[in-house]
Amino acid sequence: MLDAKAIVTIDGPSGAGKSTISRGLAAKLHFTYLDTGAMYRAVGLALERQGIDLADTASLKRCLDEIELTLAPNGDDDVRVLLNGEDVSQAIRTPEMGMVASRVSADPLVREKLTALQRQLGEKGGIVAEGRDMGTVVFPKAASKFFLNASAEERARRRCKQLAEKGQIVDFQEILDQISKRDYDDSRRQLAPLKPADDAIIVDSSSMGPEAVIEFMLASIAKSAR
Ligand code: DC
Repeated sequence: MLDAKAIVTIDGPSGAGKSTISRGLAAKLHFTYLDTGAMYRAVGLALERQGIDLADTASLKRCLDEIELTLAPNGDDDVRVLLNGEDVSQAIRTPEMGMVASRVSADPLVREKLTALQRQLGEKGGIVAEGRDMGTVVFPKAASKFFLNASAEERARRRCKQLAEKGQIVDFQEILDQISKRDYDDSRRQLAPLKPADDAIIVDSSSMGPEAVIEFMLASIAKSAR
């Protein structure tokens, strides 16, 4: 089976089910789950709260230097995200913060800070890293790479259901528009754009439940480790 120090990457567009699948796969492998989208969301929240203009590089640098991010496991459920000691796990999980994260993630200084932090967190291995550029930029030597996709409509439907479960009632069309805009922006930006690594296995989860996707990934990992 897989080396305990291995790194597995799962990239893909928003709402493809990366979080559920990465968390589930990490549990099966006894690995740590690394949610890099949460890191971009937390940085977006910090910059927005301080009213930082990305074009003002001096203020941006100062603000980034002051940001301390901690990802703490929260039982079996989610990851707790601490921004300078404050639990922002709820505050970052809104569709608006997804848009803010997407905007700030195109900035080179933001990416530089988070890429370094992600590599540091992955140093000891034994992680399932989820994001947009895990297999292409952050962990190009990962043992197993996946690119998880699903149709935009299916992703919007799942996102609406997920938010409704948390008590956030949202409009389907609005979520679909936001997902399409994020797909467009994330895949067309200059730095670390959303795209599958050349050696990634592409999985379309439009008509597959999370358990089936996890089983498929475990089988591919086992096959490649033989
Ligand atoms: O996965 P998510 O929806 O929480 O990510 C929010 C945004 O953060 C996403 O639209 C783009 C950005 N992001 C990124 O640029 N690189 C990553 N590795 C993870 C997220």
